[in-house]
Amino acid sequence: MRMYDLIMEKRNGGKLSEEEIRWMIESYTSGEIPDYQMAAMMMAVYFRGMDEEETRNLTIAMAESGERLDLSAINGVKVDKHSTGGVGDKTSLALIPLVASCGIPVAKMSGRGLGHTGGTIDKLESFRGFSTGISTETFINNVNRIGIAIMGQTANLALADKKLYALRDVTATVDNLSLIASSIMSKKLAAGADAIVLDVKTGSGAFMKTQEDAFALAREMVKIGKNAGKYTTALVTDMDQPLGLAVGNALEVKEAIDTLKGEGPEDFTELVKELGSRMLIAGQKAETINQAEEMLARSIAEGKALDKLADFVEAQGGSREEVYHPELLPMAGIQEEICSEQEGYISHIQCDEIGICSLILGGGRETKESPIDLSVGLVLGKKAGDYVKKGEVLAVLHANSREKAAEAKARFLKAYTFSNSPCEKRKLILGSVE
Ligand code: URA
Repeated sequence: MRMYDLIMEKRNGGKLSEEEIRWMIESYTSGEIPDYQMAAMMMAVYFRGMDEEETRNLTIAMAESGERLDLSAINGVKVDKHSTGGVGDKTSLALIPLVASCGIPVAKMSGRGLGHTGGTIDKLESFRGFSTGISTETFINNVNRIGIAIMGQTANLALADKKLYALRDVTATVDNLSLIASSIMSKKLAAGADAIVLDVKTGSGAFMKTQEDAFALAREMVKIGKNAGKYTTALVTDMDQPLGLAVGNALEVKEAIDTLKGEGPEDFTELVKELGSRMLIAGQKAETINQAEEMLARSIAEGKALDKLADFVEAQGGSREEVYHPELLPMAGIQEEICSEQEGYISHIQCDEIGICSLILGGGRETKESPIDLSVGLVLGKKAGDYVKKGEVLAVLHANSREKAAEAKARFLKAYTFSNSPCEKRKLILGSVE
């Protein structure tokens, strides 16, 4: 087989066979196919697409290109969760302890983030001493002992995707449905859970800008999961404004703690409960959504969800004290109110711009090596549909530099659009793919 022929085939709109895809992924992983040929292939796929069979074959070839986690030593149905990500998306921080407190064993691999804030691991490192650098043995023991563990993605998991994602990132070929679906699902399949619950985001702060694309991606990923014999379900949710109110690592951890105490923002609480219910059903702990919702509400009311977070943080080197006293978490030196310069109903928030404000403050990393400031970010006071008077507080900026705060503030004010007539509040949960 020659890579040149496969590129030509795809460039001309043809279909790659299972054997060709497998050969291409194996040869790319071993270094026999150079980046420049794979980059040409990714661009050909970007324009020509892949059909369902090609996407499935690509996913399986990538899942098998590296190590696969064996979770069979963990008792019960292991349920994994994945979000396609967005601004203020701290869902795992609240959801995972919540479902674990209801008896779902959660053995999760997570990543750091490139982007507006860190990934789940960066956020968790707001707890001093917390580490995801644990051995597979500790990972499995912790899940059996306390029901929850998070490990950093091992270098070998879905090796081909690791190489390919880095290549797509610098060749403008990330936002293709087949490539995103196969990238995410190859990692999920290699991570070994029995069931997968997906949260596909749509809007100005997400990869998928339109609902149509988000539903198509959700359908594609659910199909891949089911074909691999995993119970898979997806929600499609709004990311046209930040999720909840907090954007920034430690600020998001605080919001997740509030939510586990039953004091979180309405939209974030709704999402955590909706995904949590689906995880309880996937893990066979509940039969109906109503039953699952009652279990989740009880766990929050009885303080079990918060205790589970404390157990988890402690088991991975952090202090449970900080879970019960979040004021001990990293805090920025400057807190500055951003007041509205206009009066009216908020008709639109350019969500990705709010993410960029967090990045400007130092809350995210621009390159893999950039340091991250866990304490900075923003806490919104107003969201789409709210009425605001001139001078009212739109958000509070948390910064460690006056210059960065000024730059972020100017950008923030441009991200809000106002209208004289009432605007509807945005619906968060747009639908599901079962
Ligand atoms: N996240 C992934 O893991 N892969 C993609 O291609 C896009 C988002």
